Amino acid sequence: MSVLSEELRERILAEFPKYPNKRAVTLPALHIVHDSMRCVSVGAIEEIAELLELHPSEVHDTMTFYNFFKDEKHALGRHRIWVCRSISCALRGGEELLEQLAHRYGVHPGQTTPDGKFTLEFAECLGACEGAPCILVNDECHMNMTEQSTKELIDRI
Ligand code: FES
Repeated sequence: MSVLSEELRERILAEFPKYPNKRAVTLPALHIVHDSMRCVSVGAIEEIAELLELHPSEVHDTMTFYNFFKDEKHALGRHRIWVCRSISCALRGGEELLEQLAHRYGVHPGQTTPDGKFTLEFAECLGACEGAPCILVNDECHMNMTEQSTKELIDRI
């Protein structure tokens, strides 16, 4: 039985015309699978490789190079929360916000809560230093965060 759904396969195939060759679709394909399945399993790597006419090790190399994609043993929670710890955010309390979240959920950065709801991560500069400290929840950046606004944000999601 196939790991990738027909819908995921079609979404990957739809990327082909946008790139000069199939190999160049490796990262978009990884993102498509990762977003949908919350990880990229060995089986998914093999099927992506088959679609792109690559060896699975080539897809695996790309996947692990970025340290962004999770494997099946470390699947993402429903929400991925990144707390910036680079200089502007660190000077304005980013590290304390990270600690607050780690303490509240009993996880270290890189870990997912046992209920599968949140994955906590630290990020290097999110490119929104003017609003330090920043937290990225999935694709949404929240700026000028405080202990209270962080608590409210997490309660909302
Ligand atoms: Fe945090 Fe730039 S240092 S957004």
